Amino acid sequence: MIKLENIHKYYDSQHVLKGINLTVNRGEVVSILGPSGSGKSTLLRCINFLEQPTSGIVEVSDKRVNVESASKTDIFSLRTSTGMVFQQYNLFKNLTVLQNVIIGLTSVKQMNKDEAKKISIDILERVGLNNRLSHYPAQLSGGQQQRVGIARALALNPEVLLFDEPTSSLDPELVDEVLTTIKGVANEGNTMLIVTHELNFAREISDRVIFMEDGTIIEEGTAEQIFNNPSVERTKKFLSKVIRN
Ligand SMILES: Nc1ncnc2c1ncn2[C@@H]1O[C@H](COP(=O)(O)OP(=O)(O)OP(=O)(O)O)[C@@H](O)[C@H]1O
Ligand SMILES: [Mg+2]
Repeated sequence: MIKLENIHKYYDSQHVLKGINLTVNRGEVVSILGPSGSGKSTLLRCINFLEQPTSGIVEVSDKRVNVESASKTDIFSLRTSTGMVFQQYNLFKNLTVLQNVIIGLTSVKQMNKDEAKKISIDILERVGLNNRLSHYPAQLSGGQQQRVGIARALALNPEVLLFDEPTSSLDPELVDEVLTTIKGVANEGNTMLIVTHELNFAREISDRVIFMEDGTIIEEGTAEQIFNNPSVERTKKFLSKVIRN
């Protein structure tokens, strides 16, 4: 599970997260919606300390960390228990598909090469890429590259998975294959926090939906509540705009 208590984040004097409280229970899928600049990516990145939160408490699984006194060991522990999938894939361009997945296991988990290879092949098969193991990222479609990104996160068998707009760099016809892969991952019972602009997807996959604006959570509810009956004017406006587009 993920539990955030009163998380604040400043970039210099800019107050980007203003006291975020959020719990994602084990096996739960939660989506974050909200306008550009509202702090969605920053929030995800504060969970695994890709950005250092300014204050508050981050808890992942049974590791509870007061961010102001976080040690290197605390940060390592949060990082190894979270897997992250990025909008821009972030693959190593000079490594093959298989090597891109193996390297996480041999470097982060210190696993031996043979075991890492076996696990990586299994996982790449799960995301439908077993026939692309020796390809380099540049030889793949965007959708295939993103599925490598998902495989790399899954290989580490993290407690929680964070997705930051995993389909927004993709050509429209490639979006579905990636969303289908993510749905498969959700159906396996993983704990997931997903920033997305794909409203139908969010509606289908989420146990709960969160709406952020200007560094705060302004509305939270089940997908049904948020989409059918948003109680906050700002959420209504956002949804009607996005749905119309
Ligand atoms: N590394 C950084 N240094 C300084 N300011 C930053 C940094 N990253 C983000 N910001 C600022 O923090 C605010 C929130 O940014 P963030 O990327 O979290 O928004 P977002 O909700 O993910 O937006 P989008 O939907 O466009 O991805 C923005 O005003 C942004 O300019
Ligand atoms: Mg973002």
